[in-house]
Amino acid sequence: MSKVAVVGAGYVGLTTAMCLAHLEHEVCCVDINDERIAGLRAGVVPIREDGMEDLLRAGLDSSRLTFSTNAGDAVADAEFVFLCVGTPSDDNGEADLSAVDAVATAIAPHLMPGVVIVNKSTMPVGSTRRVHRVLSEAGAAHEEFGVASNPEFLREGAAIRDFLHPSRVVVGAEDAATAQRVADLYRPLGAPVVITSPASAELIKYAANAFLATKISYANAIAALSEAVGADVVDVMLGMGYDPRIGPEFLKPGPGFGGSCFPKDISALLHTAREAGYHFDLLDGVVAVNEEQRERVVTKIRDAAGGSLAGVRVGVWGLTFKANTDDVRDSPAIAVVRDLLAEGAEVVAHDPALDHPPVEGITLAPSPLEAAKATAVVAVLTEWDEYRWIDPPELAAMVSERRIVDARNLLDPVVWRRAGFVITGIGRL
Ligand code: NAD
Ligand code: UGA
Repeated sequence: MSKVAVVGAGYVGLTTAMCLAHLEHEVCCVDINDERIAGLRAGVVPIREDGMEDLLRAGLDSSRLTFSTNAGDAVADAEFVFLCVGTPSDDNGEADLSAVDAVATAIAPHLMPGVVIVNKSTMPVGSTRRVHRVLSEAGAAHEEFGVASNPEFLREGAAIRDFLHPSRVVVGAEDAATAQRVADLYRPLGAPVVITSPASAELIKYAANAFLATKISYANAIAALSEAVGADVVDVMLGMGYDPRIGPEFLKPGPGFGGSCFPKDISALLHTAREAGYHFDLLDGVVAVNEEQRERVVTKIRDAAGGSLAGVRVGVWGLTFKANTDDVRDSPAIAVVRDLLAEGAEVVAHDPALDHPPVEGITLAPSPLEAAKATAVVAVLTEWDEYRWIDPPELAAMVSERRIVDARNLLDPVVWRRAGFVITGIGRL
């Protein structure tokens, strides 16, 4: 079993730290956020992620999982150091690696000979080499450490499951021995392993996210076409998805993809392509469809309200960027809400994962029915399961008009129409 330091206690860092401790490694997880680390030491999970509380408790009880705010101390006896800090977009759409650079600079003087630094955060092509350079410049002895790219493919809301049952493990390193050492950490998981160059490993991560986003934009484009020709996109995607070459996943139309990763990773990939002189028109199209999709949802809500949103009370169900997470970063629901506010609507929202409004100017209600009280339109913006089972007569008793815009095709239109509601979905009549 190995000694591991994980730097960054966010979605990826916590998942990595807890799962590696579960696989019986000795793990110290570091963050600059004192409050977060104090909470974790006391057994409090700072994010909503299924299964994390049990893993944290087990890790603390076995003493295999510890937490620190001091990266230097944490890496001093580590054989592997996982970098899991954020890599947000900068103003040019490029990945901002300042947190990565800061960590590399801080840990360099404390590293043990033979340590492997593992780039787990999503970082553009060239980052393995860059981290190597920053470490060397900050005093790490050149021959005494290796750097590997080991991108993470987990989804929020299913992070633990995805980490422990990966579809594949990708490792990119300049030398085979370093790559193999990283791959060996995952051996108990029995997943296929792709060992490759750092540039290929880095590109695999961006190419995979961009491809998934392309599927979603394709589904959204076919949804728009379905509306124009009188088809039902849900059936169209069902009929397409049974083809194993296409597959059923990531074909759900909606308000557009969001979250902390797809938008920023696509910007970063477009930036990489521009720098390399490649015109990635296909990906530009994916972004354009995605932006249009949010506008289409706002138009549907405006139309449902009779052509103007000024002074109209709208009940919003769901604010997170998808269900089963508390993450609102780059949430399409919030982009739609901002547009509604800009057009003068009054917004009362509900989200099962939130207890504070994430946007100024809206009210957060304690239940979906309360959010719908006296509204002219209810808009379903995130596909939380609890909205699916709401009883139409109970909603009818709350609203002032029976109008629903279902931007996730979550509700059964037949059931709601039977209850006297006018319901508009995405890509279906
Ligand atoms: P996050 O914002 O949830 O967490 C990042 C953490 O790093 C924060 O807690 C922050 O306080 C900490 N941090 C920042 N600077 C630090 C420093 N100098 N020293 C120690 N800690 C520091 O981010 P995340 O969602 O976990 O994403 C991290 C990376 O993983 C990103 O590159 C992202 O693209 C990638 N990724 C994310 C997901 C996901 O589902 N969220 C999945 C795969 C890959
Ligand atoms: C995504 C990828 O699925 C992960 O493999 C990857 O590791 C991660 O990004 C990352 O790099 O951070 P995540 O952001 O958690 O994971 O969310 P997804 O489940 O992929 O959903 C992303 C967005 O697409 C959400 O807004 C979701 O509502 C939307 N979506 C997804 C659709 O509109 N339709 C679909 O069919 C699927």
